[in-house]
Amino acid sequence: MAQITFVPSNRSVEVRQGETVLRAASRARVAITQRCRGNGSCTMCKVRVDKESVVSLPCEAEKRLISSAELAQGVRLACQTKVQGSTRISLPQSKLAAVVQAQLAEQRERRTEQDKTQNN
Ligand code: FES
Repeated sequence: MAQITFVPSNRSVEVRQGETVLRAASRARVAITQRCRGNGSCTMCKVRVDKESVVSLPCEAEKRLISSAELAQGVRLACQTKVQGSTRISLPQSKLAAVVQAQLAEQRERRTEQDKTQNN
């Protein structure tokens, strides 16, 4: 049995070889958006597979629906990607979460600059 880990939640579950990333995510209680029930047609289940992960090669549906640039970056359809060994999956951030995180990072940067100015 291999292990699959989902980032950013860092939830992990044991997986059997050949289990899809989407099914493993469901067992790990990690939400992956989808509309086509895993039929490989909606592209809503895009995830990023980390480089060291051991997964199946892209299937014909993925080659048709995902650009070659994205495939080269590890973007895959969770419903079509089969786990074949230890795997780490990064989930896309929601737009709202990305905006909030960018604002928090900006605030931290400003505070750091203010602290430096006050200490000098
Ligand atoms: S769930 Fe629709 S393409 Fe994967």
